[in-house]
Amino acid sequence: MLQLKNIGILSTYNSKTDSFDYLKNCNIDIENGIIIGLGESKHNGDQVIDCNHKLVTPGFVDAHTHPVFVNGREKEFIERISGKSYQEISNNGGGINSSIVGVREIDEIDLLDLVIKRMDDFINMGTTTIEAKTGYGLNTDSELKSLRVLENAHNKHKIDIFPTFLGAHSIPNEYNGDSNAYTDLLCNEMIPAVAKQGIAKFCDVFCEEEYFDCNQSRKILEKAVEYDLIPRMHTDEFSSIGGVKIASKINAISADHLMEISDEDIELLANSNTIAILLPGTTFFLGKTTYAPARKLIDKGVHVSIATDFNPGSCHIKSMPFIIGLSCIYLGLSIEEALKAATWSGACAINEQERIGSIEVGKKADLIIWDLDTIDQIPYNIINAPIVNVIKDGVPLITLD
Ligand code: NIG
Ligand code: FE
Repeated sequence: MLQLKNIGILSTYNSKTDSFDYLKNCNIDIENGIIIGLGESKHNGDQVIDCNHKLVTPGFVDAHTHPVFVNGREKEFIERISGKSYQEISNNGGGINSSIVGVREIDEIDLLDLVIKRMDDFINMGTTTIEAKTGYGLNTDSELKSLRVLENAHNKHKIDIFPTFLGAHSIPNEYNGDSNAYTDLLCNEMIPAVAKQGIAKFCDVFCEEEYFDCNQSRKILEKAVEYDLIPRMHTDEFSSIGGVKIASKINAISADHLMEISDEDIELLANSNTIAILLPGTTFFLGKTTYAPARKLIDKGVHVSIATDFNPGSCHIKSMPFIIGLSCIYLGLSIEEALKAATWSGACAINEQERIGSIEVGKKADLIIWDLDTIDQIPYNIINAPIVNVIKDGVPLITLD
């Protein structure tokens, strides 16, 4: 048994009371990766970690990432700081399509190496579970390869990865803008092949002007549902073209970005089970000032999660502590709301809330030990994340002996 002893404050969202628990001076007992006791411990562990009266929280659940790519696109960052927009850069040969050749050409083993290195960064910053999208292969072979890479990274790395098929990320150049023809390929060939392969759990679509319109998005996601993939959407990132209506109609597990969401669509989301995943890192990294209307969403009753959107273009950020800081500063979330959104709501957004997302007996021991006293210090330390250790499935990342 592993025991975390001398915890100063254990802070976790509690779904039963819909509030935060603050347990003082307690222990956590862990066996076979699962929390078996909380509070005063009756037993002694074979392995003990002294938390030195510091803070323990759940590990972060980052429910929106794009880690399967080859090269960074720092050139675009430079173009943006010289005044070009994401769309202008994309129309001039940059953007998502400029990441395709790399993924199509690279050996699967080398791609796996790159993804695993990225996973090291995620877990070192306290992320114990991520949702990870494909979307830079954009033909059947390369998308299946990207999904195999995610499955192998999940098996080889401590972090848990939940894969999403994002073949509908962009229209690859060989289609010359014929989005209907590419939509047909997605529906008739790629989705059936992805389902047969059996790795992807979710299917995502980039519903946006110049990418996939509402009809195409609906067609793709309905096909995905037919093949038992759970639908989710990128929508209202640059413009509001009706994606939220599709998300609520098909009961998508999440609608993500939402910087441009209308009041009418906020109502729709509030009356649906769809979770809003907000990605303030993207707004920040693109140098924009219009953040998603998080306060309005929460106040209307929409379930909000926050995630990194880590990708080579619009947001090269892997740190959930930083996203928490941005959410407090720019989305107007309280610290408790931000922490809930980064743990419990992230777990809900990948349908894993029974196993992860909060500290409870019977749940996975996915924990962060901080060199902090209270959760209030997490956003205050914005880029500095003073993490002492991360416990994943009951195993400390840094072994202490
Ligand atoms: O979530 N919006 C679509 N996809 C990414 C951008 C990906 C890229 O630029 O490579 C996003 O922002
Ligand atoms: Fe994204």
